[in-house]
Amino acid sequence: MKVGQTHYRSIWTDEVRRSVCIVDQTCLPHAFATLRLESRDAVAHAIRTMQVRGAPLIGVAAAYGLALAMDADSSNAALEESASLLNATRPTAVNLAWALKRMTSHLRNLPHQSRASAAWALAHKMADEDVATNAAIGEYGATLIRSIHEAKHDTVNILTHCNAGWVATVDWGTALAAVYKAHDSGVPVHVWVDETRPRNQGLLTAWELRQHGVPHTYIVDNAGGHLMQHGQVDVVMVGADRVSMHGDVANKIGTYLKALAAQDNDVPFYAALPISTIDFSLDDALEEIEIEERPADEVRLIGGKDLKDKPKHQRAPQAENGLETASTLDIARLRLLDDRSPAANPAFDVTPARLITGIITERGIMKPHEIAALEHAT
Ligand code: MRU
Repeated sequence: MKVGQTHYRSIWTDEVRRSVCIVDQTCLPHAFATLRLESRDAVAHAIRTMQVRGAPLIGVAAAYGLALAMDADSSNAALEESASLLNATRPTAVNLAWALKRMTSHLRNLPHQSRASAAWALAHKMADEDVATNAAIGEYGATLIRSIHEAKHDTVNILTHCNAGWVATVDWGTALAAVYKAHDSGVPVHVWVDETRPRNQGLLTAWELRQHGVPHTYIVDNAGGHLMQHGQVDVVMVGADRVSMHGDVANKIGTYLKALAAQDNDVPFYAALPISTIDFSLDDALEEIEIEERPADEVRLIGGKDLKDKPKHQRAPQAENGLETASTLDIARLRLLDDRSPAANPAFDVTPARLITGIITERGIMKPHEIAALEHAT
C-alpha cells in the first residue's frame, strides 16, 4: 500500500523493541495513525476493537500476538492459553483459527527455549506469504477484469462490498488486489464502493482507491440493485471470511443481498480469497458458521469527523494527502436511535454457492463446487 510516497504494509515489526506495529483502522479515513503493540493482550484488544480487521490480517496479527506471548512465557500452558485467548477475539473469519493452529502445531513440538524465536520466524513467514498469495489472487482477478474490458471495449464497472483491500490483509488485498493489478496494467476500471453499514468499511475502500488513483464512487448499501438493473455494474467482486467446502461464502453482512441482485440481473458475482479462508471441515455453512453479533450501539450511533467550525488555532493541521494525525483527529459520535429501542448487529452473512459465478484464489479461478479439491493444495 502506498500512503503518499511511502510504502506500508498493514502490519510490521520493530525487531529492536520486539513489538508489532499496525495501521490503526479506526482512525481511517480521517487520520493515518500507526500503533505499537507490545503484548499479546494488546494484539487481542486490537483485533476485538477492529483496529486491525479483515480475515487475512487478523490471522497474521494473531500469529504475532502468539509470538509476543512466547516472549513473555513459552511454557505449554502459556502457549495453549494464549492461542485460545487470541482465537476467541472474533468468531467468524477462519483465518484466525487457521493461523493459530499453524503456529501452535509448529511450536508444540519445539523445546521451550526456542519457541519465542520460532514463533517470530513463522509469523514473519505467514506475513510474507500473505503478500505473495494476495498478489497471485490479484493477477488472476485482473485477467477476469481484462477479459470483461476486451468484450466491452469500455471502462469496467466493479461493485465491491466491505473492504477487501490493502488494510484487510498484509498488503494488496483480495478483491481489490484484482482491481489494483487491472488498473496498473492499463485496464480502465471504476469501482462502486458500498458504504457497508454499520462499520462503514467502504470508507477504507474509498480511501485506498483514492490513494492508488483508481476511479470510484461511494454509494449507500441499498443502491447496488438499482445500479445493476440499469446496466451500470459489470461484475461484483467481494472478499470472504469463511468458505465451506461446497463454496458457500460467509462475508460482511449485506453480501448475500448483492449476490441475489447480481443473479437477478445476470451480473457475474465473484469472491476472492486465499485458500486459508476455506474451512474444509464445514459442510452446512448456514448451520455451522458462527455469525458474529456485534454491539447494538454500532447501529444506533454513527461516527465521523466533526465539522463544527473551530477557531483557526484549534483546527487540525492537514498532513500529506489531507490526512490529520490521530492526536488532532476529532471524531464526533452521534446518536441515531435511542438506546431503549432494540437494535441487532449481525456482522456477516452467508452467500450460497448457487449465487456465485466463481471463486478467485491464489491457485486460479474456479467454480464453487471445485474448491473442495484445494484441501491439500497448501
Ligand atoms: O468485520 P471485518 O471488517 O473484519 O470484515 C471484513 C470482511 O468481511 C472482508 O470482506 C473479508 O474479511 C475479506 S478481507 C480480504
